[in-house]
Amino acid sequence: MVKHENFKTCDQSGFCRRNRAYADTASSVSSWDSPYRLDSASIAFKDGKLTGTILKSVANSDHAVRLPVTITFLESGTARVTVDEEKRQKGEIELRHDSKAKKERYNEVEDWVIVGGTQVSKGAAVSKGEAGSTKVVYGPGSKFEAVITHAPFGIEFRRDGEVQIKLNERGLLNMEHWRAKVDKPAEEKKEGEEAVVEEASKEVTEDESTWWEETFGGNTDSKPRGPESVALDITFPGYEHVVGLAEHAGPLSLRQTRGGDDSYTEPYRFYNADVFEYEMDSPMTLYGSIPFMQAVKKDSVVGVFWMNAAETWVDIVKGKTSANPLSLGIGSQTTTQTHWFSESGLLDVFVFLGPTPHDVMKSYSELTGGSQLPAEFSLGAHQCRWNYVTDEDVKDVDRKMDKHRIPYDVIWLDIEYTDGKKYFTWDPDTFPDPLGMQKQLDEHDRKLVAIIDPHIKNEANYWVVDELKSKDLAVHNKDDNIYEGWCWPGSSYWIDAFGANARKWWATLFQYTKFPSSAPNLWLWNDMNEPSVFNGPETTMPKDNLHSGNWEHRDVHNLNGMTLVNATYEGLLARSKEEEKAGGRRPFVLTRSFFAGSQRMGAMWTGDNQAEWSHLKASIPMVLSMGASGFPFAGADIGGFFGNPSKELLTRWYQAGAFYPFSRAHAHIDTRRREPYLAGEPYTGIITQAQRLRYSLLPSWYTAFYHASESGTPVVKPMYFAFPGDEKAFAIDDQFLLGSTGLLAKPVTEEGATSVDIYLSDKEKYFDYFDYTVYSGPGHVTVQAPLDRIPLIMRAGHIFPRRDRPRRSSGLMKFDPFTLVLVLGDSGDAEGDLYLDDGESFEYQDGAYIHRKFHYDAATQSLSSEDLSTPGKKTKAYLKAMEKVRVEKVVIVNAPVSWKSKTEVELAEEGGSASGKRRVPMSWQEEGSGKANWAIVRDPGVGIGKGWSITFD
Ligand code: NOJ
Repeated sequence: MVKHENFKTCDQSGFCRRNRAYADTASSVSSWDSPYRLDSASIAFKDGKLTGTILKSVANSDHAVRLPVTITFLESGTARVTVDEEKRQKGEIELRHDSKAKKERYNEVEDWVIVGGTQVSKGAAVSKGEAGSTKVVYGPGSKFEAVITHAPFGIEFRRDGEVQIKLNERGLLNMEHWRAKVDKPAEEKKEGEEAVVEEASKEVTEDESTWWEETFGGNTDSKPRGPESVALDITFPGYEHVVGLAEHAGPLSLRQTRGGDDSYTEPYRFYNADVFEYEMDSPMTLYGSIPFMQAVKKDSVVGVFWMNAAETWVDIVKGKTSANPLSLGIGSQTTTQTHWFSESGLLDVFVFLGPTPHDVMKSYSELTGGSQLPAEFSLGAHQCRWNYVTDEDVKDVDRKMDKHRIPYDVIWLDIEYTDGKKYFTWDPDTFPDPLGMQKQLDEHDRKLVAIIDPHIKNEANYWVVDELKSKDLAVHNKDDNIYEGWCWPGSSYWIDAFGANARKWWATLFQYTKFPSSAPNLWLWNDMNEPSVFNGPETTMPKDNLHSGNWEHRDVHNLNGMTLVNATYEGLLARSKEEEKAGGRRPFVLTRSFFAGSQRMGAMWTGDNQAEWSHLKASIPMVLSMGASGFPFAGADIGGFFGNPSKELLTRWYQAGAFYPFSRAHAHIDTRRREPYLAGEPYTGIITQAQRLRYSLLPSWYTAFYHASESGTPVVKPMYFAFPGDEKAFAIDDQFLLGSTGLLAKPVTEEGATSVDIYLSDKEKYFDYFDYTVYSGPGHVTVQAPLDRIPLIMRAGHIFPRRDRPRRSSGLMKFDPFTLVLVLGDSGDAEGDLYLDDGESFEYQDGAYIHRKFHYDAATQSLSSEDLSTPGKKTKAYLKAMEKVRVEKVVIVNAPVSWKSKTEVELAEEGGSASGKRRVPMSWQEEGSGKANWAIVRDPGVGIGKGWSITFD
């Protein structure tokens, strides 16, 4: 069980408690006036940017606090609202305790997170608004409006005239301004008191008990800058569902946190932490933070991104949309109200107005980056445990996987491979021959991933720590000395990857000459990078620690994991001069901790889960939430980290894991060995089938990742994403679609289950992947799922690529032929695509790729392959290299009866013979009894990179 006492509740986190109290005050006072107003005289609008000053009135003071605000309208249709505090901006504050901390509010999150999409809108224009407000018309086709109310300050965002998002509607905007500490006479101190509100005078006595110091778990935070939280309420009128806010172990459709029958009592929390034995269905913080949320209603999705890396909490309340006499009769709609608060930093929020989930994700990914286009091997199966104990052990597992014909790509080494937990070393007794081990793996194009954590052992004669210290590249404590804490190696220091010099240095450590016995097929795992500090408050660093530039840890905590991955990624790009010359290879880095933007650099996993059915079940909404939060390369430890899974659970988990974007088995050091060949029959055989299914669908997975890299779309798509018009599907989070293949999976997550009910949103026909049983929606259908079956159905109207030859690893499939599966409805067209490149280099950026669109035209009964690529300087050479790779079969599911007597189809190939046409054999198969007929076109002999068409008529 998680040790709740190690982590703060809202009530134990000063600013969380203060902001919740603020919200209570606002709702309990009959006519609450937010004390923030935009000074009308200060407003200026130029080049898509509105600037001005918000004035915050303060009780018992004639002086308003000046808060500069910028509202930026971007070309993409995204709006950004940034609020700073003038006094801190100018450094006109005093720090307590002689602190060396920076005086400003942290304003560098964007340097880590934002990589594009910042072009300011040329078309945005101020238009005449109502008195006391300013209206800006912006966005594609000028369909968006921001109506900025001056007093109190608030913004309504409208699309086509309809309000979608409101800021500060409830008056919860709160910027805790700087003030000097006034030492009150002892008797007047109101330690620990709640805010007292006197209705008559509306005078609020604030709870100052956590302004200047906070103690938790025996650790005192010195808070040299005093209270400085930022908060805002964001309302989504008419939106019943909100999704995103990864990482939390709960449902995809986020739950209420205040009020309501199904409500949590705590807000969703973001404070990246090593939460030992985390619990299911909880808003507790986990290892990573993506403060990005989408609100979903029928045919409309909008979103907000709260760009703040300090400790953050989000309250969610749902209620009936306020009665509008004009809308009576439309039915009862639900409005979602959210309340966001962060401990420090700027108020910086991006607003996305959709209307499709694709639009929102695309705009978000323009800003924070698409998913990395991963090296193809990393989409294969990963076999990990803490620990493979010797290099012989690794080689033995590798041989046994082959003996049992279980495909896999990567075997992993956890911390025990090192010499005494000193990273960049090998234990000389247990790993005497790392190069020999990597060489054996390479023989089948397999890889090794080794763990390297950010804590560096504090031990004499360890060159890494010596350099870290002598170059002053470690995190400092509040007194500006090197910070020391405890982790796996015992006493340790932490690399401060916020500093450019530290990152540069870290990157050099991965060179083959520096990391002894590392080979080109070795890649990286960054763990414990929240950072995890065993003796620190909430198992992490003190908030008053100092990072490069003297920013307090408080300001940057949630970015910490990402900075390390950045540095590791840079290091792996080119580990030798030769590699650098050749343009480098796409690095693979797995991270436990992450922030918005981490999707650009690798994969994440959901940390230390347990070998229990409930954890298998919870992994699916967690992975879907990651996709909805823009970080689709996600998976959970297959088999469960803690504990020993039953064979049934292990088998079901491998089946589910074959549909995680990141598919890795992992186990704790105290668990029994559980490599899939140890399970025995029928389990080993069933797991092998699951892995083979994964491998045969790799072209579809890779294509889905290509789309994720281009436009931020999830790799496994939740139902709301695929069917935004079907309200009934919005909360469904135990089934999903693979990219745009039309493949719909619902892994079994219940012990003993032999069937599952799958919900179908539309009237299309669906077919069982394995035996073509026909299902029709809308509504629930029951799909048989004995232990050897993964519930997987194919939606009519799609075409997806496969590679059917079983191989040991993905690398060995590079030149294998393709199978295309064409899934037909009773009428209508079908469509799909294939993206393909060398799977490891960056040459695709110079056109070295194939992107084909497959289209079946029902009217002419013809299937064609069209080019979707934009040629570049390396296109020709790549096409030449792939010349011999062909389509070896086309499988047509639900092939029309009218094709029954056909034995041939006509094929026309681009650049083919003079007549340009050939006949190729086809066979048609009748199934009957609830199953679809099917046909196969065998060996049409067309190149995968070529244009062609097959006419069935
Ligand atoms: C914690 C990680 O979450 C786990 O996966 C790993 O095995 C241990 N650290 C040991 O490195």
